[in-house]
Amino acid sequence: MNRVNDIRLSEEVLREKEAQYCSHGDTVHYSPVPKFFQGCEGSFLYDRDDKPYLDLQMWYSAVNFGYRNKQIVGAVTAQLEQLPQLACQYLHEEKVLVAERLATECHRAFGMGGRIQFNVGGSQAIEDSMKLVRNATGKSLFMAFMGGYHGRTLGTSEITSSYRYRRRFGHFSNRAHFVPFPYCFRCPYGMKLESCNYYCTDQVERLFETEFNSFWDAKAEEPEFIAFYVEPVQGTGGYVVPPPDYFRRLKTILDERKILLVDDEIQMGFFRTGKFWGIEHFGVKPNIVVFGKALTNGLNPISGLWAEERLISPQAFPPGSTHSTFSSNTLGTAAALATLQWIEQQDYERTVAESGAYFLQQLEDLKKRHAVIGDVAGLGLALRIEVTQADGFTPNKALTDRIFESGLAGGIPTSRGPMGLVLDVGGYYKNVFTLAPCLDITKGEIDLAIELLDWLFTHCAGEL
Ligand SMILES: Cc1ncc(COP(=O)(O)O)c(C=O)c1O
Repeated sequence: MNRVNDIRLSEEVLREKEAQYCSHGDTVHYSPVPKFFQGCEGSFLYDRDDKPYLDLQMWYSAVNFGYRNKQIVGAVTAQLEQLPQLACQYLHEEKVLVAERLATECHRAFGMGGRIQFNVGGSQAIEDSMKLVRNATGKSLFMAFMGGYHGRTLGTSEITSSYRYRRRFGHFSNRAHFVPFPYCFRCPYGMKLESCNYYCTDQVERLFETEFNSFWDAKAEEPEFIAFYVEPVQGTGGYVVPPPDYFRRLKTILDERKILLVDDEIQMGFFRTGKFWGIEHFGVKPNIVVFGKALTNGLNPISGLWAEERLISPQAFPPGSTHSTFSSNTLGTAAALATLQWIEQQDYERTVAESGAYFLQQLEDLKKRHAVIGDVAGLGLALRIEVTQADGFTPNKALTDRIFESGLAGGIPTSRGPMGLVLDVGGYYKNVFTLAPCLDITKGEIDLAIELLDWLFTHCAGEL
């Protein structure tokens, strides 16, 4: 790999500087000693010695379309020459075209007219959606899922389930009411999908049965909670795919109680699951869709939301309702437009389903070889490996961490030479590898991934 500049400090010096100058508050710091990388291409990252690492998490699904995707990078480079800076109060072509394309996708998927508004990061767009809902309804209480993740700003922490993200910061608004997610491998009600008859949605419905359950004023026919935030497939929660009819049943309950459905597609949108929007698998129409991450393929970030017209018309949500200096920055909209054009030229609905099915089949085979793999599952190329004790159920965080670290240490013998593996850990017990490979991953690269995982499970399980 060619370096962009000539400065090359030793890793030791850089680590000393990092220890002195970098806050740890703005990153996960999952590894005690985070790794340096200096290059990327396609499905691979390269360390400071140019050694390759197959990436199965692609920046938490922000780089769905491959590192340094030439077409998308080319559009940003051209924008750098043409109009690299412009205040968001003025218009530029790419902003309008990105909004048009996204609104058209929502119209195709949900049959409703609406508008797009932009922001910079995912959490900010979620906060914008909270404002939209509050503005339209005059109410401010939300429902969301246990295991859900919608960001870590003060506002979004209230609807992200983990108390860990709120504990030291106090309450900024109202903590959501959290409902168990249909995580069938570890069903919160101890049931089996074959026989449960969606007991979980019955439990949601029960909340509204009488006013004494504290959610519903039967006389006024009004709910106290006004929007339900969902991820179509739970991301940070461990790539948990809900059973096929769950969202349809939930939506019926919400519609009957006039509760809005906000669909957080920040991690699952843009074909991660094999559909443009993940929620399309489940046949429901959200009132608001929030997106970010892969919209710019991880280049200059922009995020945003689509909302149905009655919520977001200029009369309902007037100028200045939200504002961020960088919200529809020109480099971001150029990257987004190129990303959407790239998507149009591919056939991801078919190819992601095919590669996802092939990958999942290989994972099923891997599971047969390793008793410590309790569950593998997925939707499209959002795949999960749940790491357990040899009983196939008890979560095994120690082994998960060992495999994660060994993958990053690199130098694993493979048919393509020594290689590292980049994984991401999620799940309620931090024992799930959430796999989000490049959507253009080849069959050969999937085989390589399995080779690496096989080696890691064999060696790391043996060491513990
Ligand atoms: C589903 C979901 N919502 C919201 C967010 C927050 O987005 P950001 O990290 O860009 O603020 C994330 C980030 O991982 C996410 O996965």
